[in-house]
Parts: sequence; structure tokens; C-alpha cells
Amino acid sequence: MRTAVLRFALMAHDRVGRKRFTSEKSERFSESVIREMTRQAMLYDAINLAQGFPDFAAPQELKHAAQQAIAADLNQYAITWGAKNLRDAIAHRMSVAQGLQVDPETEITVCCGSTEAMIASLMAVTNARDEIVIFEPFYENYGPDAILSGARPRFVKLHPPADPDGEWTFDEQELRAAFCGRTKAIIVNTPNNPTGKVFSRAELELIRDLCVKHNALAITDEIYEHILYDGAEHVSMARIEGMRERTITINGLSKTYSVTGWRVGWAVAPASLSGAIRKVHDFLTVGAAAPLQEAGVAALASPQGYYRRLAEDYRARRDRLLPTLREVGFRAFLPRGAYYIMTDIGSFGFADDASFASHLVRDIGVAVVPGSSFYSNPADGAHQVRFAFCKRSSTLDKAATRLMKLRAAPPQAQG
Ligand SMILES: Cc1ncc(COP(=O)(O)O)c(C=O)c1O
Repeated sequence: MRTAVLRFALMAHDRVGRKRFTSEKSERFSESVIREMTRQAMLYDAINLAQGFPDFAAPQELKHAAQQAIAADLNQYAITWGAKNLRDAIAHRMSVAQGLQVDPETEITVCCGSTEAMIASLMAVTNARDEIVIFEPFYENYGPDAILSGARPRFVKLHPPADPDGEWTFDEQELRAAFCGRTKAIIVNTPNNPTGKVFSRAELELIRDLCVKHNALAITDEIYEHILYDGAEHVSMARIEGMRERTITINGLSKTYSVTGWRVGWAVAPASLSGAIRKVHDFLTVGAAAPLQEAGVAALASPQGYYRRLAEDYRARRDRLLPTLREVGFRAFLPRGAYYIMTDIGSFGFADDASFASHLVRDIGVAVVPGSSFYSNPADGAHQVRFAFCKRSSTLDKAATRLMKLRAAPPQAQG
């Protein structure tokens, strides 16, 4: 009864407008468009090429390891910054994959996905007037992450190549101009979502020079580190000379091991930064699911062949979807890494990305992400949509059949 009265009182307060109960921060961003497109895919029974999660099975050994961990009663809180054997496994993996030596006792914080690792890191290092540099188009979360952490984002454009098989590039002068005395950090996501760009060593060295000059950090989201094509090499920012001490490396199980629902990720940073990240993480979530951390140890022990096969399987999926997209009229940019294809939809004659994505999900039966959700100014992405190809080949074939319907309709009729 008291609860009901209280609820009424709150509603009355809200209605007469004497006090807003939603924070200014929460009103500065909308719900995730990516996750909304998944809901739309379910509503219209469309094929979900919007959200980046696999529709195929996770590796059998990992599922078994998770089941065993629960049966062995690893069901209580793990150490807040991560179970020791998982931190040891992460440190070992970083040394094998990137030649980086990290101290699992002081430099690793296990979080609820790399999503939490990113926001915990931003909250741990930024103050109200700090600026963070973000390349755009950007993974949707970074915008709200900046708002929630109170930092001011400064965006630097990634430009699509003139030849769709070419590289996305940024303008060096624009990047230089984005850095200033207030710059606390730059977020670098490589391999990149949504463009598929893999930052070169030279590009990372330029970013290093700017970080050193302006005494800024790099927060690198390397969640697609093993999903690379055509000989592309992933270089961890922490490996660039002079960056080990000023880099927070973010990664996780989601993409490499096809377990996006497990929510296990981590931030790796020098001890002083990790101390701050650990405190924020502790009070945000306490810790990631203990049995799934244990299964993560099994995942990180995967043999080298696992990573080769992962990349090869994704290359086959990319090469299955990309020609279809081009055939039906998309200008589809060839990704060098990650599992997305960014496209230009100019040839279809739609008013904007949202109306085109809506047509695709309702009438064609394929869900994609409107490009505007990857830009600070939505107009910049109004002629783009993103496809995710982390799907079974049968799903991609079905999507291709449906997308063929696009070719048949003349642009004027679609307006
Ligand atoms: C660049 C990038 N970072 C982070 C994430 C989320 O990762 P996690 O599942 O570890 O939270 C995604 C998911 O799509 C992503 O594309």
C-alpha cells in the first residue's frame, strides 16, 4: 500500500513538472538503435543482419567448461577484478598474441563485457571538462559512454575510400586539430566497427605522437583482434613504443569465442590506472559471472588453429555477402577486419537511412543498422547502412535471396 501511494506521489510530481525524475544525462542519448533493430527483426520475422552476434553455436568445449564450472559450484562472487586463473590466462594470451607482458595481479580488470570495461575506464580517467577524441563513424556505445562519464567528445572523421575495395582514412590535420591541452584520451577501435578498418602501425604511431605531445591516454577497443582478412595484421596500441604506460587495452570473450551473451570482458592498463578502473568496476557491477569467467580460462587456452579457423570462416562469410550487396546496388566497402560491411545506399533513392532500413526490415525481411547511429551528426550517416555477417551461411543465403528483391524495384517507386 505504501508503495502504491509513493508511486502515485512520484507520478503527480512528474506530471506537474516541478521536478524531472529523469537525469539530463539520460536525456542526451536515445536507446541503442542496434538493439532496437534486433527487436524490429523479431517483430517482422526478418533476418537479423543488424546486431553483431553469431547465430551459430558456441564452441562445444566452452559450453562444457561453463557447465562444469556451475556443477563444481563456482557459483559465488569471483574476486571483484576477476578470478585469478582468468587474469593469468589473459596475461598469457596477451604475451602469445601480441608479445605484451602484463601483470595479472595489478594490471587486469575483468568486467561484464568489454562494454563495461570501456565505461568503467572512461569513468576512471575523465573529469568534467576533459575531452576525448573519437573517430567516427564509431561503435554506437562510445557516444553515451562519453556523456555518462561526463567527458566531452571530439570527433574525427574516417572517410570512405573512393574505390570501395580501398581503405578508410582520416585526415592527419583534422586529427592533430582535435587534440588539445584538455584531451584526456583517444578511443581507438581496431579492427573497427562499423568500417572494417584495421589501423596501420604508421597510423598508430601518429596517434602515439599526439598522445605523447598532449599527455593523453589511448583507450583501445581490440575486441575484433582475431577477425582479420587478406593478410591484415592487428597491432595492439600498447605495443607501439612509448604507449605501454598510457594505454588501456579493452578486449573480451564475446567476439573471439562467439559468446556475446556471456558478458565477460576486460581492461588491461598500468597498475595506477587499473587501480582506478577496479574501483569504478567494483561499485558498478561487483564482477562478471563467476562460472563464465572459469569457462573463459578454457576459451583463452584455445590452440592457435582455432584463431586461424575463426578468421577464415569469417572471410568466407564476408565473401558470401559482399558480392550480393554489390549486385543489388549497394556501394559496399570491403572490410579488412571485424564482421561488418558498411554500405552506401545512394543508388536506391530513399530519403534517408532510417526509411531505407525500415523498408528493408518490413518489406524485404532483412534487418540492418541505419548509418546515422554511428555519427555524432546523424545527417553524416543518412546515406549508409551497416550489415553484420556473423551468421551461418544458410542465414546469409536466405538474406541474399530476400535482398535480390531490391534489385527488381526501380528507385523512384521506393521513395
Ligand atoms: C567495437 C565493439 N566494442 C565492444 C562491443 C561489445 O562487446 P562486449 O560484448 O564485450 O560488451 C562491440 C559489440 O558489437 C563492438 O562492436
